[in-house]
Amino acid sequence: VSHQAAKPAVVAIVVAAGSGVRLGREVPKAAIEIAGVPMVTRAVQAMLAGGASRVVVAAPEAWTEKFAHLMGPYADRVQVIAGGLLRQDSVRLALDYTTGADIILVHDAARPLVPPFVVDRVIEAVRDGSPAVIPVLPQVDSLRRIRRNWTVAVDRSTFLRVQTPQGFEAEVLRRAHATSGDKEYTDDATMCEAIDVPVTTVPGDGLGFKITEPMDLVLAEVIARGES
Ligand code: C5P
Repeated sequence: VSHQAAKPAVVAIVVAAGSGVRLGREVPKAAIEIAGVPMVTRAVQAMLAGGASRVVVAAPEAWTEKFAHLMGPYADRVQVIAGGLLRQDSVRLALDYTTGADIILVHDAARPLVPPFVVDRVIEAVRDGSPAVIPVLPQVDSLRRIRRNWTVAVDRSTFLRVQTPQGFEAEVLRRAHATSGDKEYTDDATMCEAIDVPVTTVPGDGLGFKITEPMDLVLAEVIARGES
């Protein structure tokens, strides 16, 4: 019997079931190519390169077969399932396919250029004992809170921008989703916090930006071309 702790099994969930209406394309957002490689494929590649041993992709229901074909060389380590109505539904459905995981990552397909070192950083923090870990960046713009019909400046240094992948002890993420009920959450860390699990931060990276608007696609294309 080895006295070294066994390496924890890391499974990544890539949520890719959004429609991406804000980009105004025919295909779902995650299927859009960036420098010839679909966003969802890039996101999967980043998870595997960063230390996940396999990936569960939540795809739009009518697109599961198409998405499976997009996995190319990674297909044997990826399972594509149908996602749900909300992001949190997609995560919950994917959780059923994470049996055996010690650590679960949840990553937005809409963040296809996240560097593998950020993925590794998140995994390491969970491995070192943090039950819920998020990559963050400082808030660079000034911020204002909306009041009834005016706005009030707030101290931006007290805010952080939250990226993905977020990393969790598998048991914690399952419990958070099992007890979340009807309440809507924008991410899984918030859901964990709702059951009093402390959330730990690690430095994110600018390349983990979320592709939301047409300009973000232009930026991603330029960056990806520069790298290839
Ligand atoms: O809409 P937004 O950009 O915030 O979505 C974040 C991520 O969640 C995207 O990668 C999107 O594909 C995914 N999502 C999902 N299922 C939904 C809604 C969004 O997997 N029902």
